Amino acid sequence: MCGIIGFAGHSEAAPILLDGLERMEYRGYDSAGIAVRSETKGLQVKKSKGRLQVLSDLTHGGADLEGNLGIGHTRWATHGEPSDVNAHPHVSSNGQIALVHNGIIENYLEIKEHLMKLGVTFKSDTDSEVVAQLLEYHYNECHNMLEAVGRVLRRIEGSYALGIICADYPNALIAARKDAPLLLGYGKGENFIASDVTAILKHTREVSYMDDGEIAVITPDSIDVFDDELVPVTKEHHQVNWDVTAAEKGGYPHFMFKEIMEQPEAIRKTVSPRIKGERVVLDDISMTQEYVKNISRIFIIACGSSYHVGMVSKYNWEKMLRRPVEVVLASEFRYCDPLVDDHTLVIVISQSGETLDTMAAMREAQRRGGRALAIVNVVGSSIARDADDVLYTWAGPEIAVATTKAYSTQLALMDLVGLYLGDLLGTVSDSEYKAILAGIQELPEKMQKVLEKTADIQYFASRYFNHNSIFFIGRNVDYAMGMEGSLKLKEISYIHSEAYASGELKHGTISLIEQGTLVVALGTYAPLFDKAMSNVVEVKARGAEVLALTTDEFREKMEKTADSTISVPSIHPILQPSLGVVPLQLFAYYVALQRGCDIDKPRNLAKSVTVE
Ligand code: AGP
Repeated sequence: MCGIIGFAGHSEAAPILLDGLERMEYRGYDSAGIAVRSETKGLQVKKSKGRLQVLSDLTHGGADLEGNLGIGHTRWATHGEPSDVNAHPHVSSNGQIALVHNGIIENYLEIKEHLMKLGVTFKSDTDSEVVAQLLEYHYNECHNMLEAVGRVLRRIEGSYALGIICADYPNALIAARKDAPLLLGYGKGENFIASDVTAILKHTREVSYMDDGEIAVITPDSIDVFDDELVPVTKEHHQVNWDVTAAEKGGYPHFMFKEIMEQPEAIRKTVSPRIKGERVVLDDISMTQEYVKNISRIFIIACGSSYHVGMVSKYNWEKMLRRPVEVVLASEFRYCDPLVDDHTLVIVISQSGETLDTMAAMREAQRRGGRALAIVNVVGSSIARDADDVLYTWAGPEIAVATTKAYSTQLALMDLVGLYLGDLLGTVSDSEYKAILAGIQELPEKMQKVLEKTADIQYFASRYFNHNSIFFIGRNVDYAMGMEGSLKLKEISYIHSEAYASGELKHGTISLIEQGTLVVALGTYAPLFDKAMSNVVEVKARGAEVLALTTDEFREKMEKTADSTISVPSIHPILQPSLGVVPLQLFAYYVALQRGCDIDKPRNLAKSVTVE
């Protein structure tokens, strides 16, 4: 997703902007640009399609632009193809105002037509340039930049995070935010704006998060924030405690591999603080036992891999809570007139906490009376701040577009929450409670054992990386886990893949199985192992090549039928997917490596999808 950085200080802005954009490359982009203001040269703008290196070469690492005030942007195209002219910053016709924008201006066409009738000519096909031209129009009217920004924000509809500099406004940049993340960074004699904290962590850990409708004026020595009536607002400051090195590769070949390896520690950090005296303690949430006992239905709402966490949790929570749990894609939820009332608990899962589909679905559920508990990795993100309760996964910054450690910590935290709610409802026996809690506590150690067997998985990847269609089949939590294994493979290796409930194959899809079709058969869920075995026989009878995943306990049996077998240690059935997913992550990683794909920044994808 697009990245924004802004700087007001006493150092040369351009190198700081380029460095910040580089730290946001992982979010995915197709072009980049910076604008810097100086007393002598006014506004200087450089932007280009392609990788950030192109821009850095174009500006000699930023040396060509002088000035201590500037804005920078990495663009993930929504309106207008990736090109130099569509890249941000966009500049108003008179060349006096430069602007960067994340989000979508829904009514940009009508505004563009109105301005064209007034003689404004446009250079790009983007919605963002319309904001720059509209700003010039209002600035010419009132000759006050803050007032002009206020007028523009009242006119546009849609989502925006804006960074603005103006030739007439010597040492201040302006920021505004609605439905797209933007934070303020407080330095010493210098201040920042950024769409992602990783862009400015090198300079400051003191931040505040802009709220919808707010406007900020940032100078080297001050940050003033106003609401949409231009009334001053006092912002709460937060200290970001992320380890900067966590947002760097640290000697690993890819962020994805590093983050796969970090999973045991990430899970420890997520679960340990929430287990005290052999009990799950969730001080972070304020749900009363009475509220919990009156819950009539539970929705789990998310996208992508977070949705897959919900699919696993559905099976586990219905077992523990004996309540209906419905998992719904966020992009579907908000448009299906959902059955939500004040006895509905809505679990919202999001690594970034900025996924627009998920945020909009959460707001729709809250509007209908539902109570939202968010499971989020990025502290202070929009979803975290707007939810009724939030539980953070402490996975640290996840840089690779394909999620791994965030997925695993979400899964572990959902198991904890399920246990906590089951205890309040009295639907989990003492022995089950103890067994599941013991399983959660041994998860990191058993996961470490799986991570020590990467060679087997690398070997299988070298055998199977040339397949152009791969099926993942499984039952119950194995089916849900297979969804994640399939998505990992698709995302980074670009191989077509689908996850199927094994029992469903014979109702149609088995017609696709032919000689040599690769089927990844998942049989880690012990209660249904025999069924998993019969499905292996079923697809092999049609010529499939079967790579099976099961537990050490069933390995010998599986090896009698499957062509290849991977196994993981056994653990409580509720937690088995948390172990089984790791070989699937590694398989996708090694296949993509064999195929020479861009593992950390897969084509067409962004780390956080903040558009519909
Ligand atoms: C997962 O590997 C993908 N990057 C993607 O499916 C992601 O899980 C999805 O976009 C949801 O993101 P979120 O968890 O930040 O809301």
